[in-house]
Amino acid sequence: MADSNKTAILSFDDKELRLPMYSPTVGPDVIDIRKLYAQGGVFTYDPGFTSTASCDSTITYIDGDKGELLHRGYPIDQLAEKSHYLEVCYLLLYGELPSGAELEDFESRVTNHTMIHEQMHMFFRGFRRDAHPMATMVGVVGAMSAFYHDSTDISDPWQREVASIRLIAKMPTIAAMAYKYSIGQPFVYPRNDLDYASNFLRMCFSVPAEDYEVNPILSRAMDRIFTLHADHEQNASTSTVRLASSSGANPFACIAAGIACLWGPAHGGANQACLEMLREIGTVDRIPEYIARAKDKDDPFRLMGFGHRVYKNFDPRAKVMKQSADEVLDLLGIENNPTLQVAKQLEKIALEDPYFIEKKLYPNVDFYSGIILDAMGFPTAMFTPIFALARTVGWISQWKEMIVDPQLKIGRPRQLYMGETYRDYVNVEDR
Ligand code: ACO
Repeated sequence: MADSNKTAILSFDDKELRLPMYSPTVGPDVIDIRKLYAQGGVFTYDPGFTSTASCDSTITYIDGDKGELLHRGYPIDQLAEKSHYLEVCYLLLYGELPSGAELEDFESRVTNHTMIHEQMHMFFRGFRRDAHPMATMVGVVGAMSAFYHDSTDISDPWQREVASIRLIAKMPTIAAMAYKYSIGQPFVYPRNDLDYASNFLRMCFSVPAEDYEVNPILSRAMDRIFTLHADHEQNASTSTVRLASSSGANPFACIAAGIACLWGPAHGGANQACLEMLREIGTVDRIPEYIARAKDKDDPFRLMGFGHRVYKNFDPRAKVMKQSADEVLDLLGIENNPTLQVAKQLEKIALEDPYFIEKKLYPNVDFYSGIILDAMGFPTAMFTPIFALARTVGWISQWKEMIVDPQLKIGRPRQLYMGETYRDYVNVEDR
């Protein structure tokens, strides 16, 4: 964090406070308000944290106006085209692209942790047979703290490293098992001769009675979905992981908290909500009705898969995802699928509509990812678990960065209290 030469001056009542400012390597300057309450006796008010930097970080940078997403400086479109998920994981975790030997070592470490403790199978079996895979994942990932005691001491760098590798390695196994359980099929064990994405596809689609041949184009598309979701700086679920870990909680509990936050339809749950919305619209002639509802202030309905808190130009991940969607649909020969027709037409109409143009609402990554995952054969309930699987590395990278941050403090926001002031308790017979 470099001191900028600027100072912000805040004056109110008879006070004048001089607040230090810092310049990031790229992006807007920040005003340091940490001493504001001590010196001025006031808080800042920023529900939804639209103007608040909660930490300093060197992992991911987003320029929402330019539509740019950089991981350790590398643009997401180059990573999606030239790299692959496990290499991006290494980059996020350790800060640099790996050498050939480093990558090989990392891949081998991840591959050798793909199985979960056999006793965890019993834990899965405790869920209702039709449990949503996200519900199962929140529980199972949290329960990892009960199964892997040797990697919960956050003050030990070696244990932190083992926990990180375990989470990245086991998440596809856990997501695939959650899926298999929800459809009443037997669990499929990981196969370590397959790459990360192919192994996941096989664990989801293979059955003991019939093996699953992984198509390399689908595996590449799967890997690209993972890559595009790997990290996204201080979004809601990542901030949840950071807040949970700020108390010193173990990594498995913190990642479970991130999964829970991601589930909501305004965040990672949007991919499921988007495809369900496309199906509900059903036919192209009904699109105007839904566009009208999205614009109606008195109707809470929103076009799922449109809009983003940070991207106000376009979502660079959506651009790559759209291209990937075309490749997958082409490979699978899907052209006249009614959901796809609705999606294409909705995208066209929304992009030309003044309401969406003025509010800078563009299709986000979830708009296209659902279309690809649907074409691959995943039910909508698996869309968010796949997002959680992919985002695990981002959560872990941010968590690791935070644990060694000398400025680490427990996260504890303040509030603008608008409730009753002091009053004495009244006995029930006197109320
Ligand atoms: N459909 C219709 N109108 C919308 C939409 C939408 N999808 N998104 C935002 N708006 C409107 C709002 O009504 C608001 O209008 P107003 O200024 O007249 O009140 C304006 O655009 C700004 O919206 P906010 O809610 O203030 O924007 P915010 O940054 O808080 O929300 C969010 C961003 C949550 C992503 C929102 O756009 C949304 O709900 N989108 C649909 C859900 C979705 O696709 N989420 C996925 C996000 S990407 C991800 O998590 C990977």
